[in-house]
Amino acid sequence: MRYKKILITGGAGFIGSNFIRHVMQGAGIFKGTIVNLDKLTYSGNRANLRDLEDDRRYTFVKGDICDEKLVARLMKGCDLVINFAAESHVDRSIQDPSAFIRTNIVGTQVLLDAARKYKIKRFIQISTDEVYGSVARGYSDEESPLKPNSPYAASKAAADLLVRAYFATYKMPVIITRSSNNFGPYQYPEKVIPLFITNAIQDQKLPVYADGSNVRDWIFVGDNCSAVLFAALHGEAGGVYNIGGGTELKNIELTRMILKILKKPERLIAFVSDRPGHDKRYALDSYKLYKLGWRPAEGGFRHKLEMTVGWYKENQAWWHRLRLKKQKFW
Ligand SMILES: NC(=O)c1ccc[n+]([C@@H]2O[C@H](COP(=O)([O-])OP(=O)(O)OC[C@H]3O[C@@H](n4cnc5c(N)ncnc54)[C@H](O)[C@@H]3O)[C@@H](O)[C@H]2O)c1
Repeated sequence: MRYKKILITGGAGFIGSNFIRHVMQGAGIFKGTIVNLDKLTYSGNRANLRDLEDDRRYTFVKGDICDEKLVARLMKGCDLVINFAAESHVDRSIQDPSAFIRTNIVGTQVLLDAARKYKIKRFIQISTDEVYGSVARGYSDEESPLKPNSPYAASKAAADLLVRAYFATYKMPVIITRSSNNFGPYQYPEKVIPLFITNAIQDQKLPVYADGSNVRDWIFVGDNCSAVLFAALHGEAGGVYNIGGGTELKNIELTRMILKILKKPERLIAFVSDRPGHDKRYALDSYKLYKLGWRPAEGGFRHKLEMTVGWYKENQAWWHRLRLKKQKFW
């Protein structure tokens, strides 16, 4: 690992916490230090990394990426910054976009300005396939136009354009990764896979939008983490890298798979009215990252989904505590 001091933002969330674990416990001993800056919004959970808190290589700082002074203080001396921090739930962005604009756009600008000031060696912006909008046929590659349809996707696309502009204008060594839908341990149970697993375990209904024919491409979070690290180590400045899982599924197919793994009946499925502006299909062309040499870990989607279901079965205290807080989503 050529980086010595890494600033991770949003590292108490789902993907960020998996990423920190991936770097600190992964193959090849990481000898540098990681600072995790996280505001601990409803989806941030310090317990995700509790076991690493005594590790001298790791420091947690509670704070906001929009806080210029704090960001500048933390970024000093860093050589790599990875921005996972975001408001990330599409349904919440439809209810109220304001926090999405603030964190996802203004927060990214604050980070970029500090990274520029301190001449950070690599700045990785974690983006999403949703910036390309719905794709009826074929696949989105990195040159495809950005056509976001939800306030969430629009805020992520705006951040991507800012990052691009800082490369063009200031020659900053930035990289953007755009992954498809992630699943795995520590995902806040409002998102479809953990929501359906935890509902099914409790014999509650699984609310499927419309007729369940919307298609998503799924990637195991560990594979996304290895791809982000790979892009940080081998990607070129100014580069955009799609990270697809190569598993396209209709939502209803995914729902049936989860029920089957848990040996629960299909009568738990409840079709509900569609999300406004619901994108029909996302599909990524990830050839660019493959060409650079990245590959996902062994084992297919079904195996990784079974592992994920197993994790939620074994870690019920983790999600029961989160689900005590009443949400519209459960
Ligand atoms: N989950 C997915 O399927 C997926 C797919 C593609 C891209 N992404 C992107 O990956 C990133 C991480 O997503 P996730 O699923 O882990 O989300 P998450 O909601 O689980 O985690 C987001 C984290 O950011 C923190 N945060 C929010 N606002 C902050 C602020 N102003 N300052 C500091 N910290 C703040 C939260 O406390 C939380 O810990 C996001 O940028 C998201 O857009 C996610």
